[in-house]
Amino acid sequence: MCGIVGAVAQRDVVDILVEGLRRLEYRGYDSAGVAVVGTAGELQRLRRLGKVKELADAVAAQPVPGGTGIAHTRWATHGEPSERNAHPHVSGNITVVHNGIIENHGPLRQALQAKGYVFNSDTDTEVIAHLVEDELKKAGSLLAAVQNAVKQFSGAYGTVLMDKTDPSHLVVARSGSPLVIGLGIGENFIASDQLALLPVTRRFMFLEEGDVAEITRQSVTVYDKSGVQVERAVVESNASYDAGDKGQYRHFMLKEIYEQPSAINNTLEGRLSNDSVLDETFGNGAADLFKKVKHIQIVACGTSYHSGMVARYWLESLGGISCNVEIASEFRYRKSFVQPNSLLVSISQSGETADTLAALRMAKEAGYIGSLTICNVAGSSLVRESDLAFMTRAGAEIGVASTKAFTTQLVGLAMLTLAIGKYNGLTAAQQQEMVTALRSLPAKLEETLTLATSIETLAEEFADKHHSLFLGRGDQYPIAMEGALKLKEISYIHAEAYAAGELKHGPLALIDADMPIIVVAPNNELLEKLQSNVEEVRARGGILYVFADIDAHFKSDATQRVVNVPHVHPLIAPIIYTIPLQLLSYYVAIIKGTDVDQPRNLAKSVTVE
Ligand code: AGP
Ligand code: GLU
Repeated sequence: MCGIVGAVAQRDVVDILVEGLRRLEYRGYDSAGVAVVGTAGELQRLRRLGKVKELADAVAAQPVPGGTGIAHTRWATHGEPSERNAHPHVSGNITVVHNGIIENHGPLRQALQAKGYVFNSDTDTEVIAHLVEDELKKAGSLLAAVQNAVKQFSGAYGTVLMDKTDPSHLVVARSGSPLVIGLGIGENFIASDQLALLPVTRRFMFLEEGDVAEITRQSVTVYDKSGVQVERAVVESNASYDAGDKGQYRHFMLKEIYEQPSAINNTLEGRLSNDSVLDETFGNGAADLFKKVKHIQIVACGTSYHSGMVARYWLESLGGISCNVEIASEFRYRKSFVQPNSLLVSISQSGETADTLAALRMAKEAGYIGSLTICNVAGSSLVRESDLAFMTRAGAEIGVASTKAFTTQLVGLAMLTLAIGKYNGLTAAQQQEMVTALRSLPAKLEETLTLATSIETLAEEFADKHHSLFLGRGDQYPIAMEGALKLKEISYIHAEAYAAGELKHGPLALIDADMPIIVVAPNNELLEKLQSNVEEVRARGGILYVFADIDAHFKSDATQRVVNVPHVHPLIAPIIYTIPLQLLSYYVAIIKGTDVDQPRNLAKSVTVE
């Protein structure tokens, strides 16, 4: 779930490992640890509850020399966050780090305890250490022991193992949790994300599901799930080295909010002609597939699900095609009816979200005519396993609260609407209008970002609030949902979103002066309806915060604060109205003093279900 870094080298590796963990901090975690085999074959292990900084301080106070080591940031799933539950875990000569969940850890633990193994933590991970030690008694090598052990696991793992009696190699295995091997000269590395290894290499080998690999200083040998030795492609990464730096900004989230105009510029670049979207944008064979598509099923989680909800409005009203959107964790466990000629579209920043990946895999068996992923991470599992991919090109998103990934997803989905729509009655004039609207986005976003100062002032009124309601209608309803998610994630204020027309069916009972109501109000065909909903709230003593089109004629007064948002084409309004809500949640979190980039209890990439 969180971070893994490992190295086999001739030089001391502890600083590389800790720097790697630092670069993965953005994923959210509760504890960190490192283990290095010393020159006399002794295992030096340091673990700390809390931040990587604590671990780095411990390493500085007690140097750990050695060329072979593994390190981990943990996001607890089994056993409380504590030093004794932090990885690496040890059994005899074996040391292990693990991302994911071993679902059958209960029976495995019982069987191992019956054989005399003593458990020192409450984690599921510790069964890996003991089981591999047990298998090593029968098998001739760590590699064979790991290959035998993984056959007994159900669940998800990205795991790295080290034997202190033979530090010449590491053995790694992945199933459901990503691992990438970093290739150096006379040294090799492993990590759960290439970002961790960019200071030491740019050459990467992505492992595939079920792979087990042995890594030495000079070689990497990969075996697939049936134990057959295989070659995996080596790719040169062009990820930016400083992706992990905040630059002039106080937080990654703020940096990423301000990166949206350039991120969207990148998303659009080279993909639009004057009056349409280029089919190659979605990958080879996209046009042939899109011509046949009669229905779209979108699956995603969290923020990515909200972008899918906006897309449904676009695909049905402009794209001329029916569309369902479902949360991946529900979809994967439900027997759903597959419409003829359905395309499965997954949306994900990370491309590694376990539920979304499982939904894609399930759909492959279910009769969809193809799959497309809208994704931000090249080489991720969703990209590799989908027939077609649209890369959002937002650049590395470090803040746990998703911002630029969301707005670039929306741009990708607007382009999908264009690409599908042209086979379903979207006229040339409509296409041209949409292309012009999309091209206007970077400048309109810059203009919208100038609202930051007035939103910062507004945020002060939220400091003592415990609950809030977000309202929108039509394609702004998912934007209200996204605004509520942002606020609850980083400021811990309880926030709910409602389609404004639904208020009178229950939520109106909540309205009083302590419940701020945030409204997104572009000047569209639903404006009058929305204005009536706003009056219903005012009549009951609610305090309103309205983000409204300049032409919508909302006026500030004692019970209503109005922030004017630039007037834009209706297609891009959901993208534009996202910005003030991101800024609002950011400034409220600043006032509340919460951890903006790594909110409590959350992880950036949710690779467990
Ligand atoms: C967004 O702010 C969240 N942290 C979260 O909801 C996220 O969008 C969700 O976990 C899905 O992640 P993905 O886009 O990487 O699949
Ligand atoms: N399930 C393991 C634990 O709770 C690993 C968690 C993680 O992925 O960080 O320790």
